[in-house]
Amino acid sequence: MTPPPGIDELAATFRSTFGAAPDGVWQAPGRVNLIGEHTDYNEGFVLPFAIDRTARVAVRIRPDSTVRLLSTFGNQGLTTADAGALNRATARGWTKYPLGVLWALQQRGLPVTGMDVLLDSDVPRGAGLSSSHAIECAVITALNELTGAGLGVQDMVLATQRAENDFVGAPTGIMDQSASLRGAAGHAVFLDCRDQSIRLVPFGAARAGLEMLVIDTKVSHSHAGGGYAARRSSCELGSEVLGVKSLRDVGLDDLAEAGGLLDDETFRRVRHVVTENDRVLQTVELLGSAGPQAIGHLLDASHASMRDDFEISCAELDLAVDAARSAGALGARMTGGGFGGSAIALTPVGAVRGVRAAVERSFAQAGYTAPDIFSVRPAAGAMRLA
Ligand code: GLA
Repeated sequence: MTPPPGIDELAATFRSTFGAAPDGVWQAPGRVNLIGEHTDYNEGFVLPFAIDRTARVAVRIRPDSTVRLLSTFGNQGLTTADAGALNRATARGWTKYPLGVLWALQQRGLPVTGMDVLLDSDVPRGAGLSSSHAIECAVITALNELTGAGLGVQDMVLATQRAENDFVGAPTGIMDQSASLRGAAGHAVFLDCRDQSIRLVPFGAARAGLEMLVIDTKVSHSHAGGGYAARRSSCELGSEVLGVKSLRDVGLDDLAEAGGLLDDETFRRVRHVVTENDRVLQTVELLGSAGPQAIGHLLDASHASMRDDFEISCAELDLAVDAARSAGALGARMTGGGFGGSAIALTPVGAVRGVRAAVERSFAQAGYTAPDIFSVRPAAGAMRLA
C-alpha cells in the first residue's frame, strides 16, 4: 500500500487545485465491528472500534454557493455542484458522501454554504470497513467547526445517518458513524443504540499477545439495495408480529414463544438479533473479566448466526473464517453489513503467519480473487489535524 500523503502534501495539492489554502485538515477513521451485527437499527447493542485507517479532508468554506470536490484516488476528476441545489440523483461515486452531509446539515438549518474539499483515504473501499462513513465523519467534523453549526456528537451521528438514508439511499443504522466519531485508541465503543449512550471498553489485544486481522475478501457489496433493506424489513415485521417497539425488547426467554408466532424465515432473523444482542453483552463482560483471549467462541457463534439465521454471509467470508480458525485464530467472523466485505480473525501473534498463509492458500484453491489481509488496532475517532 502506498503511504498516505502527509498533511503538508495534502495542503499543497489543495492550494494548487483550488488556488487558496484550506481552512484546515480533518480526519475520521473506518471501523471494524467486534460484535453486534444488524442490531443497531433494532435499538440493540454493538461493539465496534475505530481503526488506524482514515479518511482525511482538507476543506475551505467558500463565500459563494459553489462546491468543488476532488479526491487523491480514482479517476473522477474535479466535481462541481451547487450547494443551493444539491441533487441525490446526479451525485456520483464518493462525492455522494460529502454532498450528503452538506444536504443533511441544510435539513437541520445550515444556510447554503459552498466549499472546496480535497479527500484522501486509506480505508479500503467496498471492504465493509465503513470507508463511506469515514468520509462523512471527516466532512461533518470539519463543517461543524467551520460553519459554527455547533452540533454535539449525537447530533452529528444522526445527521450522517440522514445523509446515508435519505441522500445516499442506504437504510443503515448508527453504528459506523458512532465508532468513527466516538472511537478512542485502545478501546472498543460499547454503544446502546436505543439512547446512544456509550461506554469505552478497553480492548488490549496487543497486550494479550493477539492481533486483529482483517481479511478483505474483495467481494464488494453495497447497502443501498437488496439484501440489507430486506433484512431490515424482516426485523420490522418480526417486531410488529411480536407486538414490541423493536427487537431490543425481545429476550432470549421469549424466543420459544416467538417461534410459534413467526414464519420460519422471520423467526431466524429475529433469533439472530436477539442472540447477537446477548453475545455483545457477554463479550463486554468477558473483556472486563478475562480479556480478549476469552471472546473467541462468541465471535464464532456470531458468524454462525449470520451465516445460518440471518443469511448475510457468502462463500468467501465462510471460507476466510473457517481457514483462519483451523490455522489457529481464537475466533473469527464476518464484520459489517455482510454480502461481501471483510472478516475479522482474532489471532495469537505467533499464529499470524500461519493464518495468512492458510487463508491465501484456501482462496487460491477455491479459485477466488486473492484476499487482502492486514491487522488493525483500535484508534482514535474523528479529529482536526491542522
Ligand atoms: C452496516 C451499517 C450499520 C450496521 C451494519 C450491520 O455497516 O452501516 O449501520 O447496520 O451494517 O451491523
